[in-house]
Amino acid sequence: MIDGNTKVCGLIGNPVEHTLSPLIHNTLAKRLGHHLVYVPFLVEDGAVKSAVDGAFALNVLGLNVTVPYKGKVMENLVQIDDLAEQIGAVNTLVRCGSGFKGYNTDMPGLCRALTREGIMLKEQEVILLGAGGAARAVAFMCASQKVKKVYLLNRSVDKAKAVAEEVNRKSGRECICPMALKDHGKVPDGKFLAIQATSVGLYPNEKDVIIEDGAFYEKIHTGYDLVYKPGTTRFMELVKSHGGEAYNGLKMLLYQGIIAYELWNGISVSEEMALQVYEMLEREIYHEG
Ligand code: ATR
Repeated sequence: MIDGNTKVCGLIGNPVEHTLSPLIHNTLAKRLGHHLVYVPFLVEDGAVKSAVDGAFALNVLGLNVTVPYKGKVMENLVQIDDLAEQIGAVNTLVRCGSGFKGYNTDMPGLCRALTREGIMLKEQEVILLGAGGAARAVAFMCASQKVKKVYLLNRSVDKAKAVAEEVNRKSGRECICPMALKDHGKVPDGKFLAIQATSVGLYPNEKDVIIEDGAFYEKIHTGYDLVYKPGTTRFMELVKSHGGEAYNGLKMLLYQGIIAYELWNGISVSEEMALQVYEMLEREIYHEG
C-alpha cells in the first residue's frame, strides 16, 4: 500500500511505454516488503535537466535512464562511477548528498548474467559482434574484466577500428582487435565466447542472423545474444547446433535492474529472488495474453 513512507523510483526516457523495468522493480519491492514504487516518466527532449533536478527536489530515491538520454544525463549529475564514465553511458542514478550519482548497470548486469552461467570473462578469448552503442559498452567491460583478447567484428570496419582504438587507449591494454565482419574466417582457430551485440535477428526480423557460415560456429563454446525477443534467436540456434551453449539477453536485462535496485536500497538481492523475477519477465515477454 502507498503511504507516507513510500519511496519513489522511476525511469526517464522517450519512449517509455514498453519498458519492463516497472515489472522488475515493483515485483522486487513487493516480494521484499519494501515501501517503494517504480514509475515510468516520459521526458521530452530538452527537459532532462529539469527532470533530474525535479526528481532530486521531490526526494526521489533513484532513477533509471533509457534511450535517448543515457549520454545526455551525464551533464546533470554530481558524480559518475568510473566504468560509466569510460563507457559514456549512464542508466542508473543513485541519490547522494547533493544530487544524483550515475552508474552503468547494463554491463555489470551482463557480467553477472555470464557469471551465473559459470562464465568468467577473465582470460577468455571473445568474439564480439557489432560496434554500435551496445557493443562498445561490452568492449569496455571486457577490457575492464581482463579478457585475454577480443576480436571485434563489424560490418563497417571503420566503426570497429574506432571502438577498438578508444577502448585500448582508455583501458591501457591492447586487447581489442578490430576486423571486418566479412573476414570472420580469419579469426584464428580456438574456442571462443561470442557476444552478439548487433540488432540483427531482433523481433520481428527473427529469421535474420549476423553470420550464416557453419565453420564460424564451430569456434564458439558459448554464444550470448544481447537480443531477448525472440527467446531463441537464429544466432543461438546456430551456436547450439554446432555444439555450443547459448543464452539470450533476458538475464542481462534482469540483472541490470537488480543491480540498480541493490544500489538504491543498499542491499543484495538473493539469487532465489532474482530467479522469481526472471520467471515473471519470461511470462510477460513470451506468453503474452
Ligand atoms: P545499439 O546502440 O543497439 O548498439 P547501433 O548503435 O545502431 O545500436 O548499432 C547497431 C549495430 O548493429 C552496428 O554494429 C551495426 O553495424 P554497422 O556499424 O556496420 O552499421 C549492426 N548492424 C545492424 N544491421 C546490420 C546488418 N544487417 N548486418 C550487419 N550488421 C548490422
